[in-house]
Amino acid sequence: MPIVAHNPNLGPSSPIVVPQGRVLGWGTMERNIAVIGAGLIGRAWAMVFARAGWNVRLHDRERAQLDAAQAFIAASLAEQAEYQLVADPAAAAARIETMPDLDAALAGVDWVQENLPETAEVKREVFALLDRHAPREAVLASSTSAIPASQFTEPLAGRARCLVAHPVNPPHLVPVVELCGAPWTAPEVMERARRVYADVGQVPIVVRREIDGFILNRLQGALLSEAMRLVGEGYVSPDDLDKTVRDGLGLRWSFIGPFATIELNAPGGVADYCSRYGGALRRLAEAPPAASVWDPGNVRRVAAALGAPPPGDVLDARTRWRDRRLMALARHKQDQSNVE
Ligand SMILES: NC(=O)c1ccc[n+]([C@@H]2O[C@H](COP(=O)([O-])OP(=O)(O)OC[C@H]3O[C@@H](n4cnc5c(N)ncnc54)[C@H](O)[C@@H]3O)[C@@H](O)[C@H]2O)c1
Repeated sequence: MPIVAHNPNLGPSSPIVVPQGRVLGWGTMERNIAVIGAGLIGRAWAMVFARAGWNVRLHDRERAQLDAAQAFIAASLAEQAEYQLVADPAAAAARIETMPDLDAALAGVDWVQENLPETAEVKREVFALLDRHAPREAVLASSTSAIPASQFTEPLAGRARCLVAHPVNPPHLVPVVELCGAPWTAPEVMERARRVYADVGQVPIVVRREIDGFILNRLQGALLSEAMRLVGEGYVSPDDLDKTVRDGLGLRWSFIGPFATIELNAPGGVADYCSRYGGALRRLAEAPPAASVWDPGNVRRVAAALGAPPPGDVLDARTRWRDRRLMALARHKQDQSNVE
């Protein structure tokens, strides 16, 4: 029976129909995935793939993490169903099997998504294991935020099948995923990855060659460095800075990017925009925030301006609130995607 997975980027009238065990255009795939690490990102990836009909083996060395992930997944899928982001939450949850044994988790999979702690040493160790134990045809993807694949896959026999697939937290609600291969990643693997992540409802983008921070964190880092400067030097309060993004830049960015934005800000498009405003923006670019905005002294000033962090239970409630707002936004974007 076909499974209908909702792609947040397509309208409800354009579901992705994914028959079980179908041929995805490059060979037969059973659509079995091992998700390695059941923390914040691993549990979210498990939902992304299970929603789209994949069989998921969720592995972690901590039984408590697997149990917590299962509880989180059941609650989140039920909530996603309220926003029509998943057709059958119970069936999706049932497709996720928790597996404390790594070998068992890897047996017969087509795909591996690694989500272990962010150190090059951990990535090197786990990719050596994955390359030895996963089926030869399986693609090995890492969720790393900032470690290029060339730093942890070079000596591997199967290095051509390894890549970074960097998601945004939480990937079950924010669909972009940055695909970045090492110099030795096979072009067919990059193409396969682009198709698989699109098929499960994500929005893959391709980073054409390795660069520190990939794309998303370079953009986020530029904005955050400037925010650290502006708040640290007392130009604006943290609250007013957040409003500038939340009630200003972010409203447009939730459906058009910065290039599409400036194209609409001058009648002759980007070149016209640059001839009108490029001089002022160039002056700003000549005096970028210094790396010292991340020094302890400035971090203390920014933290003091923000005030004491809320207690854990308030943060948990705020995370759940954020996720519900993201679900409503995903729903809205689905409804609007065919309207222009
Ligand atoms: N948190 C984010 O915002 C975010 C966003 C995008 C990408 N990432 C990347 O995703 C990866 C995971 O991040 P996270 O936030 O989910 O971390 P996390 O700390 O929430 O989860 C890590 C999990 O790995 C498990 N683990 C550790 N060592 C293990 C081992 N040897 N074998 C099996 N399980 C092991 C831990 O028990 C834990 O459950 C990192 O590479 C991170 O950079 C994180």
